[in-house]
Amino acid sequence: MKLYNFAELLHIAKDREFKAVGSFNLHCLEMLPAYFKAAEKTNSPLMIQISTGTAKYLGHRLLVDAIKSLAESKNVPTCLHLDHCSDLDSIQLAIDTGFSSVMYDGSHLSIEENIANTRKVIDMARPLNVSVEAELGAIGGSEDGKVVAMEEIAFTTVNDAKRFVDETGVDMLAISIGTVHGLYTGKAHIQHQRLAEITEATRTPLVLHGGTGVSDEDMRLAVRSGIEKVNVGTEMNVQWVSQCKNTFEKGKVNDSVRNFLVPANDAVTSVLVEKMQLFR
Ligand code: 13P
Repeated sequence: MKLYNFAELLHIAKDREFKAVGSFNLHCLEMLPAYFKAAEKTNSPLMIQISTGTAKYLGHRLLVDAIKSLAESKNVPTCLHLDHCSDLDSIQLAIDTGFSSVMYDGSHLSIEENIANTRKVIDMARPLNVSVEAELGAIGGSEDGKVVAMEEIAFTTVNDAKRFVDETGVDMLAISIGTVHGLYTGKAHIQHQRLAEITEATRTPLVLHGGTGVSDEDMRLAVRSGIEKVNVGTEMNVQWVSQCKNTFEKGKVNDSVRNFLVPANDAVTSVLVEKMQLFR
């Protein structure tokens, strides 16, 4: 089975009565079965996203081969997406190895430079049917070692979003509307009005980053107002590590390591099932 790009996956999701696609960060290879189990349980197509840190740790080829093979054997339509990447060579490597979707993150640049680089990435990706996500505005918090302080957060404006989409024709746009990457210290304050206006002005799939810690109600509202891709990363890491801390603590050194990892994966499956059902 081929890996699907975002537009193709969204189409399958809508056919199955999902309003949006969850895009879930994979933190290590051992976690991978949990993602497919959750997709099978909910009959959801699956979008797995890989940070540049994880890609470096596991290698692009291993990721593509493992995910393609599981997609085929489990019969789950799957999109493999490179998350936040601002280096064009790394994006080219992901495309050449078989990723079906990539994100160019030029949110730290001027809008003109961000547009110019996004267009370059689209030129690299389109001939191979690979979808491209870009980001406009600055989302706060910590993601794969990159930290955006609270005072550096810049919300995406309606005019900029319209200009960006008109001048690039990007497949999906990540916007800054109040979520942050990583664990929240308080409640997320999503700017639903801003989101509705950007949706109206752009008519392009919009992406909500920082899905961890967003309440179910906010998530449903965001999806209703135009979000079609929701990124969730930290939450699976937290579940996996906290389960492992528990089981490793109680186990003996000659116990099968699987005895420790299976409960951790079960916890990740539960989170993923819960999220996937939210997007129905
Ligand atoms: P969280 O880790 O906050 O869920 O955000 C993930 C994300 O947006 C990845 O791009």
